[in-house]
Amino acid sequence: MNILVTAGPTREFIDPVRFISNRSSGKMGYAVARAALMRGHKVVLVSGPVSLQAPDGLAVVRVVSAAEMQSAVEAGVDGCDALVMAAAVSDWRPARVHANKLKKRSAPATLDLEPVPDILMGLASRKGGRIFVGFAAETENLLDEARAKLNSKNLDMIVANDVSRTDAGFEVDNNAVTFIPAHGEAMALPLMSKDDVAERLVKWIEARRK
Ligand code: PMT
Repeated sequence: MNILVTAGPTREFIDPVRFISNRSSGKMGYAVARAALMRGHKVVLVSGPVSLQAPDGLAVVRVVSAAEMQSAVEAGVDGCDALVMAAAVSDWRPARVHANKLKKRSAPATLDLEPVPDILMGLASRKGGRIFVGFAAETENLLDEARAKLNSKNLDMIVANDVSRTDAGFEVDNNAVTFIPAHGEAMALPLMSKDDVAERLVKWIEARRK
C-alpha cells in the first residue's frame, strides 16, 4: 500500500520570530511511518518542525505551517491508499502576520485569530476508496469528542488520545489510545509504546483494506 502519514505540530507565525504552536513532538506520527515501512508499505511522511530523524527508505516532506501541511497532503492524497493524520495541526492562526519583529513597547494588547481550514474535512470529496484515519487529542469527554470528529471528518477510524495524562499523549514515548472505527466496536488499548500503537494501527489498516 501507499501510506501518507502526517506528524508533528504546525507553527503559525505572529511575526518573524514568534509563533503559535503545540506540544507535539512528532513521535506518534514517526512511529506510524516506521511501522508502515517495516511492514513493507511505501510511505510519504509530511512532517511539521520536530527534532526527530526520519527513517531511511521513505519520502519526507517538511512543512512548517498548517497551510503548508494542507498543500503537502493535498499533493499526496491522490497517490495514497491510506492517510493517517497524526499531526497536531493548528486550529487557529494569527489574522495578521507582522513583517517585522514586534517591539515589546508596541506589542498589541490582544491577538486576533482566524480559523485554519480543516485538512481532513477538505479532503472529503477526494476520499474515494481510500482509508482515512485521524487522531483526536482530547482532555475531556474523550470518546464523545473523538466520535464527533470521526463523523464530521468522514473517517474510517479515529484514534482517541487522552492528552491529559502525563504518561501518554504528547512528547512521551508511550501512548494509551482507543481505536474507534466508523463501523464496529471501539477498542481501548492499554498503555504501550508508540511503536506498538503504530504497529497495531498499520495492521488495522491492512485488515480494513482486505
Ligand atoms: O507528536 P507526539 O508528541 O507523539 O504526540 C502525539 C499526538 C498527541 C500529537 C497525536 O497522537 C495526536 O493526538 N494527534 C492529533 C492531534 C490533533 O490535532 O487532534 P485534533 O483533535 O485537534 O484533530 C483531529 C484530527 O483532525 C487530527 O487527525 C488532525 O490531524 C486533523 N486536523 C486538525 C486540524 C486541522 N486544521 N486539520 C486537520 O486535518
